[in-house]
Amino acid sequence: MALVLFASPRNGYTKKLLDAFLDGLCDNYDVRIIDCYKLSPAPCTACGVCERADTCVFSDLDEYNTLLNKAELLVFASPVYNLSMPSPLKAIVDRSQRYFSKRFSLGVMPPIEVYKRAVLLLTCGSSDRSGFDIITKQLSKMFTILNTKLYASVCMPNTDDITDVTPYENEARITAKSL
Ligand SMILES: Cc1cc2nc3c(=O)[nH]c(=O)nc-3n(C[C@H](O)[C@H](O)[C@H](O)COP(=O)(O)O)c2cc1C
Repeated sequence: MALVLFASPRNGYTKKLLDAFLDGLCDNYDVRIIDCYKLSPAPCTACGVCERADTCVFSDLDEYNTLLNKAELLVFASPVYNLSMPSPLKAIVDRSQRYFSKRFSLGVMPPIEVYKRAVLLLTCGSSDRSGFDIITKQLSKMFTILNTKLYASVCMPNTDDITDVTPYENEARITAKSL
């Protein structure tokens, strides 16, 4: 199963990249898409409950967590906002704290059994690629606890001025076909 976290509020450039990726993805993958803005997850409140039991005080990510435990492929499709990811996706990343707690407070290893590969599909308006690097670093930290390895990234900069997105769509399609 492929779990997609779509983190743009718009049907824009990130969606174009994601559509091309899904177009290239083998039919064998059951694709499940989480729209981060529609889900509007609560932020982690550092309540500490997950340090004492394998749970979260909020139930809004229950379906996501069920899918996350089963997925073999994670796809993060996100624009860069202020050199980072948009806040609904950041909330999901912060809420992965429960898996750090599961590993380091509850002693469960690995906290997620199914090994996953991850693909990042990122866009930004300017030519400054540092947002891509920052998001990659943020997600890579989370991957250490999710039994996940970064497989590939497709990054589309300059969307403020871009005239032809085809090369990036092709790159996304080829990346998907290689999985
Ligand atoms: C709130 C906000 C913050 C943004 N911050 C950045 C930024 O730090 N760097 C950048 O290059 N582009 C930035 N952008 C531009 C978006 O990354 C760019 O337009 C992106 O391609 C939008 O993706 P979408 O078409 O899928 O919505 C920002 C846009 C918004 C709305």
